[in-house]
Amino acid sequence: MPVRTAETRGPAETETLAAGLAARLAPGDVVLVSGEVGAGKTTFVRGACRALGVRGRVTSPTFTLARRYEDGRVPVSHLDLYRLEGAPPEDPAVLEEDLGPGRIAFVEWPEASAVPTDPGRIVARVLLEHRGGDRRAVRIEEGAA
Ligand SMILES: Nc1ncnc2c1ncn2[C@@H]1O[C@H](COP(=O)(O)OP(=O)(O)OP(=O)(O)O)[C@@H](O)[C@H]1O
Ligand SMILES: [Mg+2]
Repeated sequence: MPVRTAETRGPAETETLAAGLAARLAPGDVVLVSGEVGAGKTTFVRGACRALGVRGRVTSPTFTLARRYEDGRVPVSHLDLYRLEGAPPEDPAVLEEDLGPGRIAFVEWPEASAVPTDPGRIVARVLLEHRGGDRRAVRIEEGAA
């Protein structure tokens, strides 16, 4: 699985890296986005969504597990599993559509719970780390699990 690591110097650079990944995504693909609070997970997802043609607000889902963006070139789901705190979703069927073949899905806090998807759908794992100030290390591991 190829791994690339870069250091970004602000949110715009993180969005640009994400756009590069987005160009290689297709419906059914799942991207896991890890990192501490404020590391830039949502910023990364926003950059990918913009590259996929999503124009509306891209913010972390807070009161729901998933947000859906339907105005891009492909349907996109944006999940945040933080709220699950280790418990599996009450009803895994609620995420079936989001993680299914018809959409690209980005998952923040994937370590908070088992991601209810076929592991073969996970095409990339992203890890963001604070490097002081506006610097972030961005590690992108791409390819079949
Ligand atoms: N190099 C950078 N890359 C990404 N974000 C950066 C960078 N430098 C500064 N920031 C800022 O850091 C913040 C990252 O917030 P963001 O919501 O993307 O983080 P998050 O990892 O999703 O946090 P949470 O765990 O709360 O969901 C934003 O305010 C963003 O502007
Ligand atoms: Mg977030």
